[in-house]
Amino acid sequence: MSPTSPATPIPPLPTARIHLHEVAPRDGLQMESVFVPTDDKVAWIDQLSTLGYSKIEVTSFVSPAAIPALRDAEEVMRRIARVPGVVYTALVPNVRGGERAIDARVNEFNLVMSASATHNLANLRMTQAQSFGTLSQTTRLAQQAGLAVNVSLSCAFGCPMEGDVPAAAVADWVARFAGLGVQGVTLCDTTGMADPGQVLALCSAIAQQQPELALTAHFHDTRGLGGANVFAALQAGITRFDASLGGIGGCPYAPGASGNVATEDVVHLLQCLGLCCEMPLDDLAAAAQTLQALLGHGLPSAVGRAGPRWRHHPLPPDFQQTRERALAREAAG
Ligand code: COA
Ligand code: ZN
Repeated sequence: MSPTSPATPIPPLPTARIHLHEVAPRDGLQMESVFVPTDDKVAWIDQLSTLGYSKIEVTSFVSPAAIPALRDAEEVMRRIARVPGVVYTALVPNVRGGERAIDARVNEFNLVMSASATHNLANLRMTQAQSFGTLSQTTRLAQQAGLAVNVSLSCAFGCPMEGDVPAAAVADWVARFAGLGVQGVTLCDTTGMADPGQVLALCSAIAQQQPELALTAHFHDTRGLGGANVFAALQAGITRFDASLGGIGGCPYAPGASGNVATEDVVHLLQCLGLCCEMPLDDLAAAAQTLQALLGHGLPSAVGRAGPRWRHHPLPPDFQQTRERALAREAAG
């Protein structure tokens, strides 16, 4: 089969706006060993708020013993400057987290449970049935408070301890949450186990089964497939993506976890494809510089290091001389 005649036609890409959700303040910082001081977090999130994201996951209302890097959740959520049109969400694992999130004035609960029974126990210390029970109560709490609910389903494309997670099990959890009246579900590839074929199949199936749900894709670039998986999700019609500035991130309770797809890399991909995403790469680079200074280490983003493909480098200093010599030799035969 020649590369120009694929076995199946490539589905068209979405023409609608692509929504980016910045998760570095939550998924990113939860994996860092340094505690970023609260004042610095707030200033950095305020910088992010101006860049054109649809949503920012600001923090986690989880146990501070489980995720010490986010122990200042209330203060951060209360102090950020909110830009109209941006949804400020936070991770919520239970009713207690929901109460804290309401007090701190979140716009949305991002509930969390795992499609893998093993990872759910390791991460949340509950069986899936216990998680679903507590998240049902937490959903009611949000609904009474008039807040939107999204559910992030971890390990939807595979579990680092169990291996494959059946697509039917993922679809079943999504259907159960849809039955609670949640607005959105995020399919999370927690440790970068997804491949593009699987992404196209699973995202297409769930989008077809749950046309009313806002579906988001959340990829980690652990095995270099992050960009390919974003492309496959676009082919499935997904228009909402989580991404993490600089490519930081990962779940401390998932063995082998590493960074999310980097926001700069995803924006660059979308702009190369001519899709509707007008986030300014230069401003993202500036926010990544702030983050790098806060963390005190380099960031894994490919575009962060190489720059976009349309950035031209200066000619080598001896270029003119080299060209003249080459032209003279060419003329001499
Ligand atoms: N916010 C703050 N503290 C909480 C809390 C919440 N939402 N839920 C429980 N706690 C506290 C309890 O008060 C208790 O504190 P204590 O030990 O000082 O008495 C402690 O956490 C344990 O509570 P318990 O109800 O027994 O929960 P648990 O030990 O079974 O843990 C979770 C359950 C979900 C709270 C905990 O596993 C957790 O926060 N996990 C977060 C995982 C995470 O964020 N992973 C990365 C993102 S995918
Ligand atoms: Zn993640």
